[in-house]
Order: sequence, then C-alpha cells, then structure tokens
Amino acid sequence: MPEVWILGGTGRSGRVIATELLRRNITPTLVGRDAVRLRKAAEELPGEVRTAVAESVDASATQIRRRTPAVVINTIGPFVTTAEPIVRACLPATHYIDLANDVATATRLLLLQDEVRAAGPTVVTASGFGATATESLVVKLCENRPTPRYVRVDMIPSLEIEVGPLGEALAASMTEGLPGVPGGRRFGGRCYRDGRLSPMRLASEPRTLSLPDGSRVTSVGVPLGELVAAQRASGATSVVSGSTELPSSPVMRAIVPLAAQLMAIKPLRTFATRRLAAVEIKPRPRPREHSWAHAVVEWADGSTRTGWLRAEDAQAFTGTVPAEVTRRLLAGEGRPGVHFPAALFGPSLAEDCGGTYLV
Ligand SMILES: NC(=O)c1ccc[n+]([C@@H]2O[C@H](COP(=O)([O-])OP(=O)(O)OC[C@H]3O[C@@H](n4cnc5c(N)ncnc54)[C@H](OP(=O)(O)O)[C@@H]3O)[C@@H](O)[C@H]2O)c1
Repeated sequence: MPEVWILGGTGRSGRVIATELLRRNITPTLVGRDAVRLRKAAEELPGEVRTAVAESVDASATQIRRRTPAVVINTIGPFVTTAEPIVRACLPATHYIDLANDVATATRLLLLQDEVRAAGPTVVTASGFGATATESLVVKLCENRPTPRYVRVDMIPSLEIEVGPLGEALAASMTEGLPGVPGGRRFGGRCYRDGRLSPMRLASEPRTLSLPDGSRVTSVGVPLGELVAAQRASGATSVVSGSTELPSSPVMRAIVPLAAQLMAIKPLRTFATRRLAAVEIKPRPRPREHSWAHAVVEWADGSTRTGWLRAEDAQAFTGTVPAEVTRRLLAGEGRPGVHFPAALFGPSLAEDCGGTYLV
C-alpha cells in the first residue's frame, strides 16, 4: 500500500485531512514531534492510521529521503520556511502537497519549477480553501475564453472554531509577511499590475458583496496565495485578491498597514508570534451556513463574467482538498512540476471536494 504522510498530523488541519483520506480508503501516517500527542490524535480518528515521530522539519526531511513515501502532505507553517526543504526532500520520487496560502511560498516554489519538472514528481501548493476555491472559480469563468485583462477574487470563509491555543504554525504564518517577494515591502500588500507583482496598500480596495444567501460582507485587499493562483490560471495582467478575514471598517483599514509595518521589527515580530501562538481560541459556531469564493473576470472588449463557489465549513474544505489531490495523484493523474490545485485538475476538483458553482 502506498504511504501517505501528513506532516503536522496532530494539528487541526492534519486530523481533518486524515479523516478525509480514510474516507477515500487511504491509510495515512501521522507525522509529529510528540509520540503521546500522535497516539491521542490517532485514537480519535475514525479508522486505523500509522504514526511516526520526527522531532523537527529537518528530521521529517531526512525520513522522507530515507523511506520515500508516495505522497507527503505538509501542514506545518510558516510554509515560507518549511515548504522548500520538504519539497527538496521529496525529489525525485515523492509527490508533495501543502496548505500554504501566501505569496512568498508560492513564488519560492515556482522558482523550483524546472528542477521539479526534471525530477518528475507533482508538487501541489495552496491546497486549502482560499486558493482552491477562488482559483477553481477563475478556471471555470475563463474556460474557452481568451485571456482576460482583469481578475478580482475574494474569499469568504465560514468555519467552526475549535477550542485551544492558536499554535505556533498558524501564528508564524500570520506574522512572517512576504519575505523575498518582489514588487514591494515585506510587510506591505501586493497585486498584479502590468503582469508584475506590484505594491498595493494592505486592506485597501474594499468591496461590499451581496452573497447569494442574501447577506452582505465586505472584503479588503490582501495578498494571499490566491493572488498568484488567479494570475496564473487566467493570465490576466491585472489581478487583485481580497478576503473578509481582515477588518474592513475605515479605522481598521488605516491601522492594519501600520500594524503590519511593526512586524518588520524582529523582536516585535518574535514577541507577537509567541503571544499569538499562546492565544486560547474560544469555540465559535460557523458565522454563516456556507463559505464562499467570488470572482470577477473582465476582458479587453468590456465583457465581464462573475461567479460564486459555495462550500460548507472552510476548515472541512481545507481538509478535503489535500485528500482528494492525494487520491488523484495515487491514481496517476499528476503531472511533473509545481502546480496550484485547479490549474492541475480543473474545476471538477472543487466539486469533488463539496463545492458548488453559481456562475
Ligand atoms: N490554506 C488554507 O486555507 C489553510 C487553512 C487552514 C490552515 N492553514 C495553514 O496550515 C497550517 C496548519 O494549521 P493548523 O490549524 O492545522 O495548525 P495547528 O493545529 O497548530 O497544527 C500544526 C501542526 O504542525 C506541527 N508543528 C508546528 N510547528 C512545527 C515544527 N517547527 N516542526 C514540526 N512540526 C511542527 C504541530 O505538531 P506537534 O504535535 O508536533 O506540535 C501541529 O500538529 C498553518 O500554517 C495555517 O496557516 C492553511
């Protein structure tokens, strides 16, 4: 039986992915730093799983090189630190999937394109809710159409929050900014202009959206992985990505860019990451019945298409995508190289993960 490893297997995402793999008759191996936490996570899953202890990301990389699993799913953030060493350990024989959703990881992994293509495995980054849902919609809206001029994507996740500490992986993902990303400052925003990553004020370009369920939300510009995914899927020279996860009131939109700049001061960043990691999250039901992705695509002749993708709980969708991508990779449907999920598998991937298009 081909081995499928989940790095960060004790985490929130790792456990949902494991459940979805079991549902597809795939037996995962949970990889983590602590044998007791691993055993507890394994016992709570609805089926038999394997476990393996690796004390660090480097130790995981060493074990991947030694044992060559068929697929590695990386859920350890910040991905800008973990993705590249794990991808390199996966070459040449192990397929790689991650939950990264940041421009820095996307651009860094795309720099490995030639190396990965030559080696042969499939690397699928940004396999979580935001990038997969918005990119799928862009692929769907652009099907059989010429290259558009402008694309805007917005993600509107709705998820049940699990009680417990926020955790270091998620905290560091939030405070790392965009190290090494061209077109602006590390703690500034980005969009695509003239086909290039360019500066855009964080939390700017607010857009109020009326959801198909009748409610209204405001989404503001934030450079997430879907910015790169939407640009590559459409070929548009102008692309903006937005999210409802940043505060959107005028006062907060003024404060967010300033607060982000403070993260440039390393001791402050270290302090903020530690404090955030320890924050105890209070349980919260889903704020809306559905999660949504929205996209607007404009062509040079003035024609426009808009659409929605509806999903259930965003965290459940984030668990389902890597499992479904794994199933397809094990079925031999991958292609050598670095990919975003929908560009590789088409708009049907989101439907197989429980999404519904309203186009
Ligand atoms: N793209 C998306 O839509 C999306 C959605 C959800 C989450 N995410 C991202 O996915 C990541 C995981 O989120 P989560 O909510 O599952 O976090 P989590 O519950 O904190 O789980 C993270 C796991 O990573 C392990 N870990 C943390 N730091 C590590 C290190 N330095 N070396 C080895 N293992 C380490 C922890 O395992 P131990 O038991 O060994 O401590 C833990 O099991 C975050 O970065 C988050 O931003 C993305």
